[in-house]
Amino acid sequence: MGTATASLSDIAHEAKRLEGKVALITGGARGLGECISKLFRKHGAKVVIADIRDQQGLAVQDAIGAQFATYVHCDVTKETDVENAVNIAISKYKKLDIIVNNAMLIDDAKPSILDNDVAEFERVLRVNIVGPFLGIKHAPRVMIPAKKGSIVNMGSVCSSIGGVTTHAYTSSKHGLVGLTKNVAAELGKFGIRVNCLSPSFVSNNVGVREFFKFDDEGCSNNVYSNLKGVCLLEEDVANAALYLASDESRYISGHNLAIDGGFTTINPMFGLFSQS
Ligand SMILES: NC(=O)c1ccc[n+]([C@@H]2O[C@H](COP(=O)([O-])OP(=O)(O)OC[C@H]3O[C@@H](n4cnc5c(N)ncnc54)[C@H](O)[C@@H]3O)[C@@H](O)[C@H]2O)c1
Repeated sequence: MGTATASLSDIAHEAKRLEGKVALITGGARGLGECISKLFRKHGAKVVIADIRDQQGLAVQDAIGAQFATYVHCDVTKETDVENAVNIAISKYKKLDIIVNNAMLIDDAKPSILDNDVAEFERVLRVNIVGPFLGIKHAPRVMIPAKKGSIVNMGSVCSSIGGVTTHAYTSSKHGLVGLTKNVAAELGKFGIRVNCLSPSFVSNNVGVREFFKFDDEGCSNNVYSNLKGVCLLEEDVANAALYLASDESRYISGHNLAIDGGFTTINPMFGLFSQS
């Protein structure tokens, strides 16, 4: 498996790109949220990790260091929980510069719409679209007076194409791009940027390997990528989140940034460069 980027440890020697900033990361107890939380800390941010997996969330807090990270139990589908997580960021660190709406749920893969269950569909939408909506509603309470802020919503290749995963997940991720654009339109006047980050299949992520039943070579064997010999890693996604969170992207808003090696933009089946 190829490595695509510098490892997180290399970054300790580079400039800190989030020095003095405070970030709230939902779904930060494992997977991409954990990786983003750790990278943001390496770049100087104080982080609030919001999740429902208390044991794993506290372990991430302790790994980062309790003076720089705070775990809070937060079910993103509950407005009072999200409000509380924002309040904790403010009471502990006095401000909130960044929110990454990363928590997610995916339902079991069912090949027929006839087998889809309405309650399950709604449950996925509550976590994946109502959750970010609540984060976007409450973070600006402090960002608007500060006249700055960066909101990063975690999309997917399923934000722009169909047929990859379930109906509920795909619907929620498409909706998230719409929400991103609409809120970016409103919050621009306060200097708040709102963007979406849309990865394809993260080869070193446990959840994705389980869902798609990938083995160690899953990335190279099963997934189309225009970029040969490169597998998408959690660190690549975290680096893109870092860019959107930092002032380096200060003129970027309402954007959906694909990190997919061309998965959603290149059709390899026919044409001059056909790979079939
Ligand atoms: N892993 C990938 O390959 C991939 C690809 C594209 C997009 N994404 C997106 O990246 C984000 C992170 O994905 P991941 O693979 O790391 O997922 P993951 O399942 O490893 O982690 C998701 C986290 O969200 C938390 N969560 C679930 N429901 C919650 C709730 N109601 N309230 C608070 N937290 C809750 C979980 O406890 C978990 O810690 C998601 O938005 C996902 O859609 C992931």
